[in-house]
Amino acid sequence: MKIAVLTSGGDAPGMNAAIRAVVRTTLYHGHQAYAIYDGYRGLIKGYIVEVDKKSVSDILSRGGTVLGTSRLDEFKYEEVRQQAIDKLRAYEIDCLIVIGGDGTYKGAADLNKMGFPTIGIPASIDNDIAGTDYTIGFHTALNTIVQDIDKLKDTSSSHQRASVVETMGRRKGDLALYAGLSTGAEFIITPEHQIDKETIIESLKKHLKEGRRNAIIIVTEKMLNTYEFANEIAEKSGFACRATVLGYVQRGGSPVPKDRILAGRMGAYAVEAALAGKSGIAIGVKHEDIVEYPFEEAFKKGNDKKLKELFELVPKIS
Ligand code: F6P
Repeated sequence: MKIAVLTSGGDAPGMNAAIRAVVRTTLYHGHQAYAIYDGYRGLIKGYIVEVDKKSVSDILSRGGTVLGTSRLDEFKYEEVRQQAIDKLRAYEIDCLIVIGGDGTYKGAADLNKMGFPTIGIPASIDNDIAGTDYTIGFHTALNTIVQDIDKLKDTSSSHQRASVVETMGRRKGDLALYAGLSTGAEFIITPEHQIDKETIIESLKKHLKEGRRNAIIIVTEKMLNTYEFANEIAEKSGFACRATVLGYVQRGGSPVPKDRILAGRMGAYAVEAALAGKSGIAIGVKHEDIVEYPFEEAFKKGNDKKLKELFELVPKIS
């Protein structure tokens, strides 16, 4: 078989480990591996190259994606996807393995519906794919955020200041929530869990009276204007406050072992599923086991029981 791999959407640490696992597992089983550069955009342009074992040497520890990535809005149009399929067929590719987040999955699910076999490996710092406990890259980004907030606490305590910290996550609050639990944040505001400003301001007044030296308020991006909110807190509560938008540094860096191992397991599983003739599936991890499920389940928005339980923990341990 000829198996091709691409990365698409926002890069995530561990994507390289997944690329390596896909290529090496394909070769291990005696088949041919192909790399597609620059995501779906590159696929349409025909940036397709056969790769060998050496092509993926020394990439396991590197952040980002050596294949490059892109966001291609036009991929929602059938004629654009047909161009992609024509390119894949010209190279006689039998299965396309995509590594990315929900946008990437939508493209892959549509290609599959059009008759081209695809399989998805979840990689996004946002942890925003249903059906898997974790996406590749989430734990590395979390680690970066936690290290940054620990540093912020040093300087905030020195000055007796509160800090509003904005994390990435798009429509998902996992990064903010897990970072908040890891750093003892006083408040965590996410799309799933909003807190009114007055409650925060009143609490901070009390904190100040009690002589607390710092307070951390973590906010998922796009929820509010982080700088204005920090100023409002300072004005109304009397607790000096600064804003820190962590931005793109959250997405870079060498993947933590957990992401590398997850990527290796998922990459190998995806190839073996392809060799077994499967397609139209997403790979995930559930209670430490690697699982597969139809793409459609990856787009489900539902009650996240674990998230709810973790939010209930915040006031108890903050
Ligand atoms: O999906 C990952 C992510 O990093 C989000 O957290 C963020 O909102 C988005 O990508 C930023 O995307 P871009 O690189 O296109 O600005």
